Amino acid sequence: MPTVSMTVNGKEVSAEVETRTLLVQFLRDHIGLTGTHVGCDTSQCGACVVHVDGKALKSCTRLAVQCEGASVTTIEGLAANGALHPMQQAFHENHGLQCGFCTPGMIMSAVDMVERLGNKLDEKTIRQELEGNICRCTGYHNIVKSIAAGAEAMK
Ligand code: FES
Ligand code: FES
Repeated sequence: MPTVSMTVNGKEVSAEVETRTLLVQFLRDHIGLTGTHVGCDTSQCGACVVHVDGKALKSCTRLAVQCEGASVTTIEGLAANGALHPMQQAFHENHGLQCGFCTPGMIMSAVDMVERLGNKLDEKTIRQELEGNICRCTGYHNIVKSIAAGAEAMK
């Protein structure tokens, strides 16, 4: 089996994996970062979104071996020095979750959205950009509110 090495949340990690191992399986099963969730087997739900080399990616759509040498950020890597990332804080303050299953993917997509589109995000843009993230609980209203607030707070 090949050994794959990458940087995850600023730390060098490596593990022996089968070539068919998905990035999400590598993160969850090989290095124990279970904040990245699996909510479907059709690449639709977005619960597995992480950042790879600075871009949001559904980690169930990429093989771990394709990420050799990459820099990966997961939900566990957002908080710094014991303080939540502004987008995490905004979800907390605006009740942007119910069961929380979709939340890691929502937040990773939201941070990417701000990095690509800036801090002023209107409701229509946020809803369009969330096309790849499914929430089964909230009805999205407070998620949209959280992302707008988080975008402002990321200035
Ligand atoms: S688990 Fe990746 S999109 Fe659903
Ligand atoms: S909060 Fe439950 S799936 Fe989104």
